Amino acid sequence: MTDIINRKADHIELALKSEHQSHALSTFDNIRFEHNALPEVAVTDIDINSYFLDQSISAPIMIGAMTGGCDRGDIINRHLAEAAEACGIPMALGSQRAALEQNQPQTVRQYAPSALLLGNIGATQLQQLGLAFAQKAVDAVAANALVIHINPLQELVQQGGDRDWKQVLESIYHCSDKLSVPVIVKEVGAGIGPSCAERLASGGIKWIEVAGRGGTNWASIEMARNQITQEKKIAEPFIDWGMDTVELLPAVKQVCPSLNLIGSGGVRNGLDVARCIRLGANVSALAQPFLAPALESTEAVIEKITVLKKQLRWAMFLTGSSNLDSLRKAPLQTN
Ligand SMILES: Cc1cc2nc3c(=O)[nH]c(=O)nc-3n(C[C@H](O)[C@H](O)[C@H](O)COP(=O)(O)O)c2cc1C
Repeated sequence: MTDIINRKADHIELALKSEHQSHALSTFDNIRFEHNALPEVAVTDIDINSYFLDQSISAPIMIGAMTGGCDRGDIINRHLAEAAEACGIPMALGSQRAALEQNQPQTVRQYAPSALLLGNIGATQLQQLGLAFAQKAVDAVAANALVIHINPLQELVQQGGDRDWKQVLESIYHCSDKLSVPVIVKEVGAGIGPSCAERLASGGIKWIEVAGRGGTNWASIEMARNQITQEKKIAEPFIDWGMDTVELLPAVKQVCPSLNLIGSGGVRNGLDVARCIRLGANVSALAQPFLAPALESTEAVIEKITVLKKQLRWAMFLTGSSNLDSLRKAPLQTN
C-alpha cells in the first residue's frame, strides 16, 4: 500500500516538471476561430453558464482528476474542493484506491457540500474488485458520478503495472448498469478513440472524457519512475503514443453523436476550453494546470478559475458568441 502512496507522491512531483508535458506546439493552437471584427455583443452579457449531469454549473470547466486524497493529496483536494464550491464548477477526484484500501476517511465532500464531485477508480481495480468497490468509492465522498479511468499505456510503462485487461469492458458495462450514479469513462492522456467510444456507448455509457495527447505525458512520467533498464528500452518508442485531443473530439462526436463528451488532455487556458466546446465537448477539464495553484491555496485555485472563465468570455466575444450554443457554431478558419 505504501507503494501506491509513494507512487502518487512521485506523480505529483513529476507532473509539475515541464519535461513531462507534451512539448510540440500545442495542437490546440492549430484550431483557429474566424475572428469576428464586429462581435455585436457586450462582454458582460456573455453567458457561460452550462449544465453537467443535469445540474447547472457556472462555466463548462472542470477540475480534472489528480488525487484521491492521501497525504499531500488531502490538502490539494481541500484547496480544489473549496474553490470548486466557491466558483460553482465540478471537481473530479483522482484515484480513491489507496484511501479505500486503507479505510482512510475521505473528507473532501465537507469542503464542497454542493459542488458536483466525481469519484475515481481504475478500470483494472474494477475488473479485480467488482461493483462493491465502485459503490464504496461513490459512497465515501457522496459522489455525483463515478469516473473509471482506462490507462493501458500508463500501466505498461509503469513498473509492475496491470497488464491483464481481459474483461475490463464487461466490468465497466456491469458497473454502469448497476451503480447508483452515472459512470464516466476517461483516459489519462492517450485518448479514447472513435472505435473505443462506440464500444463504450453500445454498453450504455453516456459520458466519456477523451483525455487525449497534448498535455501531461504519463508514459514519460512512468518511464522516469521505472528502474528496469530493459523495460525503459521497450517503452522508448511509445513515449509519444496516443491521439490528440483536438482530433478526437470531432471524430468521436461524428460516430457517437449522442455521447456526452468531456474535452481534456492538454487544455491549458480558456481559449482551449472554447476550442473544446466548438469541437463537440459539453465540458472541458484541466488537471495539471490546477496542480501548482492547489499546492498553494484555495485563493490561488479561485484565481486560476477566474482567469480561465475570463479567457473563455474573450474567445466568445471575439467570435461574436453570446452563449455556448452560438460558440458551438462559431466559424473556424479553414486554411
Ligand atoms: C498529478 C496528477 C495525478 C493524476 N492522477 C489521476 C488519477 O488518479 N486518476 C485519473 O483518472 N487521472 C489522473 N490524472 C490524469 C488527469 O486527470 C488527466 O487525464 C491527464 O493528466 C491529462 O490532462 P492534463 O493535460 O490537463 O493534465 C492525473 C493527473 C495529474 C497531473
